[in-house]
Amino acid sequence: MKLHAALRTVLALLLAGNGLARSLVPAKVKITDVQGVAFQSPFVGQTVDVTGVVTAKDKFGVWIQDERSDDVRASNGLRLYGATAKHANVGERVSVTGRVAEYRSTANDLFLTEMDYVVSLKTLSTDHTVEPLVLGVDRTPPLNKLSSLDVGPDGWLSIPGNVTLLESTNATLRPDEFGLDFWESLEGQLVTVPWPTATNFPDRFGSIWVYGDWPVTGQNERGGLTIYSEDGEVPSAHPETILIGRALDGTRNPKTRMGLKLSNITGIVTYQYGAYYVLPLTAPEVIEAPDSDARPSNLNSTVHACQLRIGDYNVENMSPRSRHIPHIASHIAEHLHTPDIVFVQEIQDDSGPRNNGVVSANKTLSALVDAIRKASGGVTYEFVNVNPEDNKDGGAPGGNIRVAYLWRPERVSLVPGTAGNATLSTQPVMDEDGNVELSYNPGRIDPTHPAWEEARKPLAAAWQTASGERFYTVNVHFSSKRDSSSVRGDARPPVNGHAEHRLSQANVTATFVRSLLDLAPDASVIVGGDMNEYLAARAVLRPLASLLHDANAVAGIPLEERYTYAYEQNAQEIDHVFVSDAIAERPGGVEVEHVHVNTWAETIGARASDHDPTVVRLWVCDPDEDEDVPLTVDELDHEQIIL
Ligand SMILES: *[C@@H]1O[C@H](CO)[C@@H](O)[C@H](O)[C@H]1NC(C)=O
Ligand SMILES: *[C@@H]1O[C@H](CO)[C@@H](O)[C@H](O)[C@H]1NC(C)=O
Ligand SMILES: *[C@@H]1O[C@H](CO)[C@@H](O)[C@H](O)[C@H]1NC(C)=O
Ligand SMILES: *[C@@H]1O[C@H](CO)[C@@H](O)[C@H](O)[C@H]1NC(C)=O
Ligand SMILES: *[C@@H]1O[C@H](CO)[C@@H](O)[C@H](O)[C@H]1NC(C)=O
Ligand SMILES: *[C@@H]1O[C@H](CO)[C@@H](O)[C@H](O)[C@H]1NC(C)=O
Ligand SMILES: *[C@@H]1O[C@H](CO)[C@@H](O)[C@H](O)[C@H]1NC(C)=O
Repeated sequence: MKLHAALRTVLALLLAGNGLARSLVPAKVKITDVQGVAFQSPFVGQTVDVTGVVTAKDKFGVWIQDERSDDVRASNGLRLYGATAKHANVGERVSVTGRVAEYRSTANDLFLTEMDYVVSLKTLSTDHTVEPLVLGVDRTPPLNKLSSLDVGPDGWLSIPGNVTLLESTNATLRPDEFGLDFWESLEGQLVTVPWPTATNFPDRFGSIWVYGDWPVTGQNERGGLTIYSEDGEVPSAHPETILIGRALDGTRNPKTRMGLKLSNITGIVTYQYGAYYVLPLTAPEVIEAPDSDARPSNLNSTVHACQLRIGDYNVENMSPRSRHIPHIASHIAEHLHTPDIVFVQEIQDDSGPRNNGVVSANKTLSALVDAIRKASGGVTYEFVNVNPEDNKDGGAPGGNIRVAYLWRPERVSLVPGTAGNATLSTQPVMDEDGNVELSYNPGRIDPTHPAWEEARKPLAAAWQTASGERFYTVNVHFSSKRDSSSVRGDARPPVNGHAEHRLSQANVTATFVRSLLDLAPDASVIVGGDMNEYLAARAVLRPLASLLHDANAVAGIPLEERYTYAYEQNAQEIDHVFVSDAIAERPGGVEVEHVHVNTWAETIGARASDHDPTVVRLWVCDPDEDEDVPLTVDELDHEQIIL
């Protein structure tokens, strides 16, 4: 950082000669003229004279602010960078001669308008106070869209990304419509964020995402903001949120979590590290912290053989030695009430992250099953998985993460058959009795298809209930969003990392399910797991969404309560359960609960996993005609005897 700053000063000194030579008498202009009404300044490279009051200071320079203009697009704040600027103190009115620059440290960042070389600085008077602009009162962030350039049917989630570069377009700002334009129009200004609510844990630098006392969209019961798309509308990118960076006086931001309320934040709007920030003059305090105990699921009783509870949980890089095994086990036992089948993802091999050729995960799965037995007072799961080829499925090298099933043998069993291996592809086939079975059970879906390069292959299984009825499951873990670009960066729409991979993975998975449904249109099929994608990215998950039903939609879960993960400012559902027509249309219906044991944790370190588990209660077969559906709990007690 220091070297970087020194280099910038040297460069500035070398280059400044040009500006000075061009205009020996620098133009006297207003800060609002320097900022202009577009993303970039009309004065770039020119040396100008401005005056303003110093509002804030850090170790690299100061910010000054002048009179507001009637044109809200032109900010009246400006960053002065470098040693000369640092002579000024907060409250001084200064006259500054310096060179205007557009600065960014990384290619995909937006530019920050600043004076990067201050030739001279003179204090005119002292003891001035600048009243901050109160956001939500004086200016209010727009809802929904970040940029006019995020065109396409899914807005900011449209693929492909990086069709346009915002800074090359250098559009005139439209701050009433677009979030990036709004925050750009405040660049360098002193603002107050009244009554801030945090939407997530701090990032690894201690910065926190908040919204203030102004209108928001997607607000969930907890206070987070959820991504969703309603009735074909373009999903909101939540431009009404802002990052709170490190406080300028060196105080530390508190450790936030979703829904935590903070004291008012007054600070400077700037752009750094791929996003607009408010740098607080001093760190806020916690006003009100929500209870970190997530409610256990209510979906805890099924007795009828046809009604099952299916859990889904990404258990985050679990190996036999993982310290979080008991924590995950207690979630499965106490929060999910030991579902009949649990889809798990991110089971590592028996040697964990050691890159030694081991691919079996029996020890990992046994450790999990043992821990659940202890946590539940005796519920004993069986487990199955198919070992991947060493280091062929992505994830941490040597970890060989894969998906697996746990099940309660008193409730369900695999249809007898032969398990597949890493490279064998399972297919739905008709058996002698006219029932669909899988050529390998369980088996991986088209594992040598290029869609699965460096990715986890889905595991399909054919099951039977205790009453002998068949149903089918597919457990998936699609490619992650690594290599995404900042949502508030130059590339528009932002790059949704590996979206094309996830699209072909959804397609191959859907092709398998379609071949099963071609043989048995009334089959009960459940496709679930970590898809690393929101349903609002419709183009990506369309193959599955158009063939099957989102369990949330069948169950009528409110849109804003559909989340299993929190990233940056957004609560989001990237773990999904889809069901076939037969399940969606059964009279008993589908019930869903996302159990927020991790997104609601007290701190990031207190989580067991980065994902929340989900539990679904549904019917995989029709009860006998003389039975009432759904059964009451009293009847269930009675039913237990005859099943
Ligand atoms: C950006 O737009 C402003 C206002 O139209 C203009 O003055 C400035 O020269 C433009 N900058 C670039 C690099 O196009
Ligand atoms: C976007 O595309 C440009 C070329 O037009 C390229 O230079 C840049 O690296 C790309 N950005 C991202 C984030 O992929
Ligand atoms: C927070 O800011 C709002 C808006 O300026 C103001 O009404 C309120 O009194 C402030 N709260 C505190 C505790 O200062
Ligand atoms: C189901 O769970 C709820 C909440 O944990 C509990 O109050 C209730 O007694 C449970 N019901 C049964 C039948 O176990
Ligand atoms: C793993 O367990 C399965 C049965 O649960 C067994 O068939 C298989 O041989 C075991 N593999 C190893 C490497 O121990
Ligand atoms: C899977 O089984 C097939 C048939 O037995 C065999 O040819 C193939 O080598 C096996 N693949 C792996 C990765 O063991
Ligand atoms: C998969 O993609 C192919 C080629 O684009 C398309 O024809 C097919 O309908 C897709 N399948 C599904 C199930 O979406």
